[in-house]
Amino acid sequence: MKDKLIEIIKEAGEIMKEGYFCKKDITFKAKKDLVTQYDLAIENFLKEKFENEFKDFNVIAEESDNTSKIFSNSIIVDPIDGTTNFVNKVPHTAISVGVYKDKKPFIGIVYNPILNQLFYAIANEGAYCNDEKIEVSDENDFQKALLSTGFPYSSGSCEDDLNDVMKKMKNVLPKCQDIRRLGSAALDLCYVANGTYEGFYEMNLKAWDVSAGLIILQEAGGKVSNIDGNEYKLFENKYIVASNNKIHKDLIKTLNL
Ligand code: IPD
Ligand code: CA
Ligand code: CA
Repeated sequence: MKDKLIEIIKEAGEIMKEGYFCKKDITFKAKKDLVTQYDLAIENFLKEKFENEFKDFNVIAEESDNTSKIFSNSIIVDPIDGTTNFVNKVPHTAISVGVYKDKKPFIGIVYNPILNQLFYAIANEGAYCNDEKIEVSDENDFQKALLSTGFPYSSGSCEDDLNDVMKKMKNVLPKCQDIRRLGSAALDLCYVANGTYEGFYEMNLKAWDVSAGLIILQEAGGKVSNIDGNEYKLFENKYIVASNNKIHKDLIKTLNL
């Protein structure tokens, strides 16, 4: 299944590459939440191929009406993670596809066609970037940890969320090496997986933002949890906290100060 998925995702990457350099039609789903004709074109392309090819799975995808879909044997699709980057030609953007069997992680693929980076993992078989095995970093000193985060779209309308973002930033920033905000949660998780970052946290992410990246990170030796340090549940938890495992306790403790 992995090879067929990659073949299809690479074809979708051609649509993304073409769109990246073109003028986009932009629609606002909410105050800060953009969508372009390329998000829709890639999603339609992937959905049609996946539904034809993998009949035992339903497809849950960001730009679709998912109300009748039950999460179980599911392919969870974000056609463009990092749409704001895509629109502004910041090359940190990717197609994200996470496959779950009976709600359990099975295959994760995150493809950035602009930088030609293809991350993938199969449960219990390790994680790879462009066919090279990747692993999380060895750093265990929180003060030396490079972290990544994201700002929720709700920061433009919900004062509680905005205050929480600022409070957590104030807790974490002095205690770590630094914090990055590059704008694609799927890639952020992959960058923890390949040792670029030691950790990542963000609130209000949707299942499609993280469905693939969390499999890749876990297979690279990392840890994913909710803000209490307990198992992260797709579709349920407000916060995701991810790390190389070694700094996880410190990250959880600092976020909760
Ligand atoms: C967004 C990106 C971003 C994160 C947002 C997500 P989108 O996904 O992952 O990094 O901060 O919260 O919604 O909207 O570009 O698919
Ligand atoms: Ca996304
Ligand atoms: Ca998206």
